[in-house]
Amino acid sequence: MSVEHYQNTYIQNNFADRIGGANYGKDTNIYKFEKIKRAKAAAKKDFPDIELIDMGVGEPDEMADAGIVAKLAEEAAKEENRGYADNGIAEFKEAAAKYLKDVFNVADINPETEVLHSIGSKPALAMLPSAFINPGDITIMTIPGYPVLGTHTKYLGGQVYNVELKKENNFLPDLSSIPEDIAHKAKLLYLNYPNNPTGASATPHFFAEVVAWAKKYNVVVIHDAPYAALTYDGLKPLSFLSVRGAKDVGVELHSLSKSYNMTGWRIGFVAGNPLIVKAFGDVKDNNDSGQFIAIQKAAAYGLAHPEITEAIAAKYSRRHNLLVDALNSLGFKATKPKGSFFMYVEAPKGIKGGRRFESGEDFSQYLIREKLISTVPWDDAGAFVRFSVTFIAKGEEEELRVISEIKRRLSDVEFEF
Ligand SMILES: Cc1ncc(COP(=O)(O)O)c(C=O)c1O
Repeated sequence: MSVEHYQNTYIQNNFADRIGGANYGKDTNIYKFEKIKRAKAAAKKDFPDIELIDMGVGEPDEMADAGIVAKLAEEAAKEENRGYADNGIAEFKEAAAKYLKDVFNVADINPETEVLHSIGSKPALAMLPSAFINPGDITIMTIPGYPVLGTHTKYLGGQVYNVELKKENNFLPDLSSIPEDIAHKAKLLYLNYPNNPTGASATPHFFAEVVAWAKKYNVVVIHDAPYAALTYDGLKPLSFLSVRGAKDVGVELHSLSKSYNMTGWRIGFVAGNPLIVKAFGDVKDNNDSGQFIAIQKAAAYGLAHPEITEAIAAKYSRRHNLLVDALNSLGFKATKPKGSFFMYVEAPKGIKGGRRFESGEDFSQYLIREKLISTVPWDDAGAFVRFSVTFIAKGEEEELRVISEIKRRLSDVEFEF
């Protein structure tokens, strides 16, 4: 029996309001990522012989380091690693605390009480609201951004207050723009640097402001840092926890997905304030039974080898250089990010003597449908598109070919900005 069949049964009427209630699945709006998927399919159908260049993907193009894979194989073969991991093994917690010290100069993390593994950052973001949000409570999110903490806040009957990340403010939220009553009522503030999608990095000065603001308004800070170790051009990886007082107000979420090419492995950790870590552990214990111990051990091996991340960062840095040069030669105002694999650039207003672009989405659709270049549009705070340098290319020569091809395809028009 089909989905449509069951839409006419009681199952449809039993859905919770948080996913649409009895109207669940009947919404005819097409969401952004579905639109991209459809445009890609249509472009491939119209131009079956032209390569579709995918600059939209948000995950690494390579597999994990051979040493990490070998460690997994070794540990997976051991009988003692077979069972429930519950809230994690000491070896991983110790490796995480040492990693914070070695890479971020955060020296005072107690591995027993201030670190807990997660099955990636996404589930941690989904669970943290359960520890804090009662109906009516507020989470402050930044837009554009990764929405999971906000989605779960709403699932729990809470409310989301959005702060825009604007170019003129270096894509940092203007905390003073948050109304007093919202700030007083808010329980959680979500931040993410280096940022998806803007590629912006935070500064120690900004983080110090965040700590002061959080203390003033009694807000818990959740800093989501999956790109924290992917930095370029001499910028040192920056942890929120390295700022004085940060551990009094919040936690930081790390992930091996991007910094170790381990997206599918599902491993990360939450570190910082021990009471928040404890509460996260209690909620987590009611959600999952921990990541496979062999994966935790392989991840601990990775965390002890930060040079793996440095090599990945060198590749992305090189690709960013090529992409920024190519886009700027076409009239874009692209700047190389100092971290993350995202290049966020303002969409043109139109083509000289030709069509106008009403939004980032409009431009992104044009790129896919007419140029077979896939990007992700963001229109929350200005019209932008996000290119990701995780495009598929084996080796430097191939990287150069892909970027030259983008430039060639866009060279037959003159963009207006
Ligand atoms: C800002 C941000 N947070 C969290 C995640 C999820 O990462 P993980 O694979 O650790 O769940 C992503 C992945 O795209 C992300 O961009």
